Amino acid sequence: MSAQDAVTAAREARVRAVVAGFPEAERAAIIALRRTLHAAPELSWQEQGTQATLRAALHAAGIDDVREIAGTGLVATIPGTRPGAPVIALRGDIDALPISEETGLPFASQRAGVMHACGHDMHAAWAVAAGMALLRAPAAGTVRLILQPAEEVGEGATKVLESGALDGVHAIFGAHVDWRFCVGEVVATAGPLAASTDTFAITFAGRGGHGARPQDTRDPVVGLGAFLMAVQTIVSRRLDPALPGVVSVGMVQAGHAPNVIPESARCSGTIRATVPATRALLCEELTRLAHAVADTHGLSATVTLSEGTPPLVNTPQGAAWAQSAARGLLGERALTSLATTNMGGEDFAFYTERMDGCFMRVGTWREGRSAAGVHTPRFDPDEDALFVAGALLAECARTASA
Ligand code: NI
Repeated sequence: MSAQDAVTAAREARVRAVVAGFPEAERAAIIALRRTLHAAPELSWQEQGTQATLRAALHAAGIDDVREIAGTGLVATIPGTRPGAPVIALRGDIDALPISEETGLPFASQRAGVMHACGHDMHAAWAVAAGMALLRAPAAGTVRLILQPAEEVGEGATKVLESGALDGVHAIFGAHVDWRFCVGEVVATAGPLAASTDTFAITFAGRGGHGARPQDTRDPVVGLGAFLMAVQTIVSRRLDPALPGVVSVGMVQAGHAPNVIPESARCSGTIRATVPATRALLCEELTRLAHAVADTHGLSATVTLSEGTPPLVNTPQGAAWAQSAARGLLGERALTSLATTNMGGEDFAFYTERMDGCFMRVGTWREGRSAAGVHTPRFDPDEDALFVAGALLAECARTASA
């Protein structure tokens, strides 16, 4: 057996043990729950059916303290063993994406154009699995299972916070499926794990006129063109090369006729950063450049910045608890790291801004499985990850409240 084969065999043995830690009836219930959710995906803020399915699954598991939060979300409370011990939250998001499924699975989406292509069906089901594990072997502290709507639109976490469901919570844990890692592998690193996701819209206003007489106009198209090039210098010239950041223009609009210089021209795009200082710099520089370019071309610029999710930054203490839980459950070699910083967004970031916590990536790939990534029509994660993540989240709660 090669060294690599030995590592794989050891990992598989750990995964088998973790899966076997769930009684057969619980395993069957969790798989059935995940497939029911998968077959009936619902978009952000439309998760009424998902909410009802999850409420029924929690009751069936013996978790009776279940409350509605954030419209289509739920919080389920599992008592701890020691009065006064820290309260811990475990979060699973529940919404789906506007994608048409092409997996051909027997439990594939029954809803045209909607699919659980980001694995939130897995996240919801493994949160319930964590609840089952905690009923059998409770944490010292009370655990709140947060089944959160509307992650894909970056709005659900804010509503959960507004609901008060996280008041008094000491630490929060959550995880995302990741097809780039094997079942049994976990990323639980301190520091940035996902980027902020702000958007901008800029209108350059000038003076329109006949295309044959530019001298009588203030041409916003040329100003916009200059801005599109100038904006490329923000990341290349203003940002520390050692820090990740993105400014991308995704939409450009101007004019209605080839021989008419329009009154205005618009563009919009996205700004990504992994630390607050980069986020602030990119927003400031974008605004400064828009006004400077407008000035140069005799135009006026209106800049609208819309705040999205902040950067997701795992706290050192949150990551230490998660790593300790992963090591104990899956062995030292289970812990791995992202090769490069993820510039996608994740609204779990709103939670770790306010309390200790760790958002993990949980491997869902296995030898011979499709390597289709999330947000694709063929995404098909291995279901053993349900039990790995369920057991891991439960162990995080025990570790952090001990
Ligand atoms: Ni997702």
